[in-house]
Amino acid sequence: MVEIDWANLGFDYMYTPFRYIATWKDGKWGEGKLTGDNVLHISEGSAALHYGQQCFEGLKAYRCKDDSINLFRVDENSKRLNKSAERLRMPEVPEDMFIDAVKKVVLANDEYVPPYGTGATLYLRPLLIGVGDAIGVHPAQEYIFTVFCMPVGAYFKGGLTPTNFITSKYDRAAPNGTGASKVGGNYAASLLPGEEAHQRKFSDCIYLDPATHTKIEEVGSANFFGITHDDKFITPLSPSILPSITKYSLLYLAEHRLGLEALEDDVYIDGLDEFKEAGACGTAAVISPIGGIQNGDDFHVFYSETKVGPVITKLYNELTGIQYGDVEAPEGWIFKVE
Ligand code: PLP
Ligand code: COI
Repeated sequence: MVEIDWANLGFDYMYTPFRYIATWKDGKWGEGKLTGDNVLHISEGSAALHYGQQCFEGLKAYRCKDDSINLFRVDENSKRLNKSAERLRMPEVPEDMFIDAVKKVVLANDEYVPPYGTGATLYLRPLLIGVGDAIGVHPAQEYIFTVFCMPVGAYFKGGLTPTNFITSKYDRAAPNGTGASKVGGNYAASLLPGEEAHQRKFSDCIYLDPATHTKIEEVGSANFFGITHDDKFITPLSPSILPSITKYSLLYLAEHRLGLEALEDDVYIDGLDEFKEAGACGTAAVISPIGGIQNGDDFHVFYSETKVGPVITKLYNELTGIQYGDVEAPEGWIFKVE
C-alpha cells in the first residue's frame, strides 16, 4: 500500500502509475492502452496548443465501506465531453470507450483510491486534444484521448467550512460562446480574475452574466446555488455556464429527497437577501458553502461566515452518502468499478 497522508490531501497533481491513452487518425480511434508515461509527445503544430482545440472532464472514484469502488454518473461526463468535442469540431469518444478507459485507470491505480472515511477521493481527468502537424485555423487531423488520475482532498480550503467569494468585473465566457463547454479557453480566461480574487483572500470569483452584469452565472470552477427563506433550491439558468452534473444531481435530490421546490432561474446579484444559504457545487468543489459574497463595496453574508447551514448540510450528506454507497442512489447514478 502506498504511504499517503489521505486526510490532508489538497487538490494537487500527483503522479500515479497508470493512465489510458488512445489516438484518433485517418477517421478512427486506434486501440487504447494503459501506460506509465505521463509525458505527451506531440507536434509543435498541434491545434490544442495554438487554437485551444481541446476539452476535458473531471470525475471521481469513491472507495466504499465494503472496499468496492463507485463512479458517480460517469455516463453524464461522457455525454458532456462529446458535446464539448462537437462544439470544437473534435471526434466523438464513444461512451463505452470512455467508461472502459475510466474503469481501467481506476483499477490499475487501485492503491491510490483513498480509503473510505478519509474524505479523499480519486480524481479522474479525461482529456481530448487536437494534435498533429498543422498551422492554419482548422480542426486537427489527429487527436489524443487520455485519462489520468490522482488522489485529492478538498478543492476549496474550507471544505464544509464556508469561505467567501467576490464578483468579478471580467467575463468568463460570451453569451453565445463556449461557456457551456468544458474547454481550456474558459479556464485560461478565468486565471487572472481568479488570481485577483485570491490576492484579496477570497476563495474564487463569481462571474456575472456577460450581457448585463446583473445576474450570477457561476464560480470559475463550480456552479452556484442558493436556498431561499421559503425553502426553494435555486441555481442560475444561463446558456453560458457549465452544465454541472453535481448541480443537476442536487436539483433532483433537493426536490425528491429533501422535499424542496427546485428550479433553475435568474439569480440577481442585487437580490441575495432572498437566500438564507448559498453554496458552490461541482465534482472538485463537492458542495462548498459560501459564507459571503463581496460585490463592489457590498459584502453580503448568507447563513454564517463560519458555520455551514442546515439545508446545505442535508444536501451534502445525501449527495456524498450516495457517492460513497451509504445512501440509496437514484437508478443509474452509480457505476461499480470491477
Ligand atoms: N462550473 C465549472 C466552470 C466547472 O469547471 C465545473 C467542474 O467541473 C463545474 C461547474 C461543476 O461541474 P460538475 O458538477 O459536472 O463537476
Ligand atoms: C471539476 O470539478 O472536475 C473541475 O473540472 C473543476 C476544476 C478543477 C477545473
